[in-house]
Amino acid sequence: MSTHPAPDSAAPAPRPRRWSTRALVTLTVVTAVLTFLAAALLVSIFQRKQEAQTPYFRSVEVTEATIDPKTWGANWPHQYHSYLRTVDYQRTRYGGSDAVPEQLLVKDPWLKTLFSGYAFSLDYREARGHAHMLLDQEHTERVLKRPQPGACLHCHASVLPVYRHVGDGDVMEGFMKVNAMPYTEARNLKDEHGDLLVQHPLSCIDCHDPETMQLRITRPGFLNGIKALKAHQGVEDYDVNRDATRQEMRTFVCAQCHVEYYFKGEQKTLTYPWANGIKVEEIEKYYEEDGHIDFTHGVTGAPVLKAQHPEFELWSQGIHARSGVSCADCHMPYVRVGAMKVSDHHVRSPLLNIARACQTCHRISEEELLNRAHNIQDKTRALIDRAATAYTEMVDAIAAAKTAGAEEPQLKEAWDLQRRAQWRLDFIYAENSKGFHASQETARILAEAIDFARQGELAALTVRAKPEAPPEPPPAEPVQGVTPAEKAPPGPKDEP
Ligand code: HEC
Ligand code: HEC
Ligand code: HEC
Ligand code: HEC
Ligand code: HEC
Repeated sequence: MSTHPAPDSAAPAPRPRRWSTRALVTLTVVTAVLTFLAAALLVSIFQRKQEAQTPYFRSVEVTEATIDPKTWGANWPHQYHSYLRTVDYQRTRYGGSDAVPEQLLVKDPWLKTLFSGYAFSLDYREARGHAHMLLDQEHTERVLKRPQPGACLHCHASVLPVYRHVGDGDVMEGFMKVNAMPYTEARNLKDEHGDLLVQHPLSCIDCHDPETMQLRITRPGFLNGIKALKAHQGVEDYDVNRDATRQEMRTFVCAQCHVEYYFKGEQKTLTYPWANGIKVEEIEKYYEEDGHIDFTHGVTGAPVLKAQHPEFELWSQGIHARSGVSCADCHMPYVRVGAMKVSDHHVRSPLLNIARACQTCHRISEEELLNRAHNIQDKTRALIDRAATAYTEMVDAIAAAKTAGAEEPQLKEAWDLQRRAQWRLDFIYAENSKGFHASQETARILAEAIDFARQGELAALTVRAKPEAPPEPPPAEPVQGVTPAEKAPPGPKDEP
């Protein structure tokens, strides 16, 4: 930049270019100012980059002993404030939350038949936000009216302190011991200062390493379950915290709880039944080999299974999993705060947040995305209704066969078919996305449920029917006029 006038083409002769002292001073000042501005800009960019890379400036220290999310909130206010919003209520067509979670036994009365003879026929509600998990567990009739084990706490509270306390510092050992305790005993355990060991629902410490803030798995049930699954897939000695990729961890932290489980044996060891794989029939096979049943059906007497929220299992069969899309991608999408990308810790239905949850990948309108999700869910719902009708009619037929005097050996086939139908219908009903997580897999499983239920009904009707001499087949006209192969008309190349 110079203070000289622009060369004037009209000027007679160019003056020799000479720098005046004034020009030099001005140039120096201008250069200095520009350098300063550039440096300031660079510093600012650098700071923001730093901010984005290490959002971990700490005003308070957090350690393995820091369970209260409020303390963590001093360091990470954005994550903490969105985490607090899991108390919020907002419905979607099939999901979201209510202040008073809907009683599913009233909404779908056939569930009372499905769970006849089991605690789920007392109280079974819609899920809501994470903030409520401990309260909702303590208040369900399933806990108030039936004895439940300490194993229930594993997915409804920040449990590391109680596991450490009971296991003398050994989490795995504490887990084993707490599983076997009665629920209220485990829930009310106190430390040496007389403070309750179970105080908070799911907290920061359950998904994050307090030193590095890296994602980590803390739940013994999942550590054991994923190890068994990997061994089945040929990977020996899998350690999820050592071997999983970051993107996998963005799913696995949720799969600590959003999975099928059962309590194994007298010790009530919380177990994820994945040693044969995680597809619906692979889990069924596991239970068959293990000899496990959840309850004896109150109407038919069939030994049957109960499915529990298999979100991870169903998601794994869907197109999004296949495309590498994690739970956190949809349920904890990024929000921009200044230069930082912050993960939304208000875990909820993505259909309440389509712009961030879906439009980062799908460049189509919110309305169309909602329609596509509803399209899958409405069809799933229609198939569930059909499967429920088929299931109920099967139960009626088995009950009638019992009334007519049929007993165990004759009913075995019908019972077996009931168990298969029940497991599949429940697997999809208990999964919380209404088919969205894996649409084709959902339809396949419900089609099998309908088929097994109708076969079961037929088996029961056959038992009930008095064994008579098989009737003569009706006279049938023999098939005529079939041209034998060698008399087929000649092909073109055979023609003269
Ligand atoms: C591609 C996006 C996507 C991915 C990936 C995804 N979900 Fe979902 N999820 C949804 C949608 C959409 C719904 C339906 C919400 C509704 O009906 O309001 C849903 C529903 C749910 C619900 C019930 C929510 C409610 O409000 O009732 C839970 C729980 C859930 N998902 C957990 C998971 C878990 C755990 C994973 C990973 C194993 C996962 N999701 C992966 C999109 C996703
Ligand atoms: C493997 C983890 C896990 C274990 C163990 C577990 N839960 Fe849950 N529970 C969940 C998840 C995930 C949800 C939310 C999804 C849903 O409602 O389907 C839930 C929801 C609930 C709800 C609210 C919805 C409803 O079903 O009415 C209650 C109540 C509940 N659980 C009670 C219990 C009891 C009692 C036990 C012990 C017998 C138990 N849970 C053990 C993970 C678990
Ligand atoms: C410690 C176990 C645990 C972990 C870990 C966990 N959840 Fe949950 N989740 C639950 C329970 C229990 C409920 C039901 C709470 C209730 O109904 O009171 C629930 C409810 C939900 C809901 C329903 C919210 C609503 O508004 O209806 C969604 C969605 C969900 N979880 C998704 C996730 C995702 C995504 C992750 C991982 C980022 C995750 N959860 C991690 C146990 C867990
Ligand atoms: C259910 C598991 C879960 C819980 C509980 C949880 N987080 Fe996170 N958090 C995540 C996931 C998933 C990410 C994304 C990490 C990634 O992509 O590597 C994350 C990311 C973060 C990050 C990194 C920056 C960002 O926003 O992506 C911070 C900081 C953080 N969480 C703080 C907290 C605090 C504070 C709490 C408690 C109030 C908390 N988290 C509770 C799952 C959880
Ligand atoms: C991280 C990227 C990503 C996110 C986030 C995402 N999707 Fe997808 N979605 C995909 C990919 C990839 C496919 C597979 C089709 C393809 O390759 O184009 C897909 C497929 C689908 C399909 C067809 C699925 C089927 O079962 O037929 C629907 C519907 C869909 N997405 C809706 C949604 C909705 C609604 C959300 C938000 C809740 C969402 N997606 C979030 C990447 C994403």
